[in-house]
Amino acid sequence: MTGERRISLRVNEQDHELDVAPRTSLADALRDQLGLTGTHLGCEHGMCGACTVWVGGESIRSCLMLAAQADGCEVTTIEGLAENGSQHPLQESFSKHHALQCGFCTPGMIMAAADLLQRNPDPTENEVIDWLGGNFCRCTGYRSIVSAVMDAAGNGSGEPASSSGVEVTANNHHPITENGR
Ligand code: FES
Ligand code: FES
Repeated sequence: MTGERRISLRVNEQDHELDVAPRTSLADALRDQLGLTGTHLGCEHGMCGACTVWVGGESIRSCLMLAAQADGCEVTTIEGLAENGSQHPLQESFSKHHALQCGFCTPGMIMAAADLLQRNPDPTENEVIDWLGGNFCRCTGYRSIVSAVMDAAGNGSGEPASSSGVEVTANNHHPITENGR
């Protein structure tokens, strides 16, 4: 294609060279050229968080980043989060707390939450709620997600979300709010 540019990406500890068009997003390059379809595309406008991956060790929205902008970068997707065949604690915790239903939001939620836990291994519930405020889930009601993150951080009760005292609801402005905050 005219204007394609060759870029280098290190994705999930594997080196790749890709020819990308100027307007190819990182999300499309990951999904369409590398087959890493665990990165989901929802809004494609930076609003839902489904496309969250790490670039340079920090979570970003891969629908908003051009693949060319990531040239030379280290990228981690949900496929790369497990280590040595063992699931990341968040992956285990999401399963334990039933923090997913359709699963569409889940890779982005987990990549965002994993970034929070590497920055802040001991978050409060409100910090989890605030951090994940840009990740939308249309199935779970969010409570189980917050419980899963707290449990993975070692701050949860270890019990499923239904026993949590946290009241978390969704609204149109901030997807995770506590007691109408
Ligand atoms: S698809 Fe990227 S934020 Fe929604
Ligand atoms: S589990 Fe369906 S959108 Fe979150």
